[in-house]
Amino acid sequence: MAIGIDKLSFYTSEYVLDLVELAQRRGVDPNKYTIGIGQDKQSVIPNYEDVVTMGANAAAKIIDNDDRQQIDLIIFATESGIDNSKSSALYVQKLLNLSEFSRTIEIKQACYAGTFGLMQARDYVANHSGKRVLVIASDIARYGLNTPGEVTQGGGAVAMIVSESPRIATINSDSVYMSRDVADFWRPIDRTEAIVDGHLSTDIYKEMFLTLWQRYKEQSGRTIADFAGFSFHLPYTKMGKKAFDQIIDEADEIPQGRLLKNLKASQKFSRQVGNLYTGSVYLSLLSLLSYAQDLVAGEQLAIFSYGSGAEAELYSITLQENFFKYVPANETKKELADRKKVSVDQYEQIFNSQLLDSHENVSSDHPDADHFQFLGWQNGERRYK
Ligand code: HMG
Repeated sequence: MAIGIDKLSFYTSEYVLDLVELAQRRGVDPNKYTIGIGQDKQSVIPNYEDVVTMGANAAAKIIDNDDRQQIDLIIFATESGIDNSKSSALYVQKLLNLSEFSRTIEIKQACYAGTFGLMQARDYVANHSGKRVLVIASDIARYGLNTPGEVTQGGGAVAMIVSESPRIATINSDSVYMSRDVADFWRPIDRTEAIVDGHLSTDIYKEMFLTLWQRYKEQSGRTIADFAGFSFHLPYTKMGKKAFDQIIDEADEIPQGRLLKNLKASQKFSRQVGNLYTGSVYLSLLSLLSYAQDLVAGEQLAIFSYGSGAEAELYSITLQENFFKYVPANETKKELADRKKVSVDQYEQIFNSQLLDSHENVSSDHPDADHFQFLGWQNGERRYK
């Protein structure tokens, strides 16, 4: 039985920062950000959003009554968790009115965890015929004001329903993966911003991609000619290109042109949003499916997932008949275009107004919106609506 991604959705906050304006404020040539890093904008996450609200807001777009009856497991992947004990999946289960007769769990390994969640979901469905799994990958990328990582911030959530007979893509059983203890990026439990060795992280990312690509070819017998496109984890869009440049000459001229065009398609949403850690590689997939003009059912896409620390996985998916009908391309484009622009001053004020102290009974600065929101702390408890 074919198993894979039946539905896919994305949510990010309603605020956006123009990175040309950020570059001007930081005294940097804007071309460094828009060309050197490959980012145009970044989502700014206000204090009434967190990984729970963004995850629930993403999932709310795709859950229907059939899903409510058949979702047996909710996997929440994040490295921006809001509690050291309680899983974010429990909050989502309640907000979305999902059945209490389901399993709920939160998982972590930097940006890689969303992919682990997806693989667990596929294996779970294989062993529980007729059941569906909700996988959420939700994060806020925070490096700090005026740091080298600032231009690579962002945030948002991707939600996916994994089921039998998926309408978008099957997940093929051809993964290759690797893990190694590396100090390229981490966040001690008492800190709100990551510690990062940016250049080391870039090198490890490239090295792991190349190593896994060689291993994938050996184990599967496939070559670059078997793929219509690649989706990469995109902490910034240039990162995917740096990795891909290592292998692109393996393709003949005409397919090479197509692969590079589709790489650009896979970067478009991330250019506007920034890093969203666990969800980033799946935003890249959504972007590829939304912008590539020439993909057809039966074709295969390669997915490269990387999480600092470090762990990586490379695998393929196969596009299903009429897959494009189930991809929220126009909706996502519209939501990104409709975001409200904030000035650098407003962004800095929002950055510094996060409600991090559970000892204070406070309310968040939330507008009266339709989306799920974090309302603030009451006696150490997070409150949502
Ligand atoms: P930096 O050191 O300020 O930038 O930080 P740089 O000096 O390396 O310049 C970046 C690029 O801009 C270079 O191009 C420059 O030449 C170019 P490259 O050599 O790389 O091709 N440049 C210009 N281009 C045009 N016009 C100009 C100009 N000036 C310079 N005027 C860095 C960059 C990415 C290191 C920093 O932003 C950072 O530390 N970011 C956070 C870490 C990160 O994103 N790492 C990526 C791999 S690790 C990963 O993906 C995992 C992660 O998502 C976390 C997780 O797993 O949880 C991060």
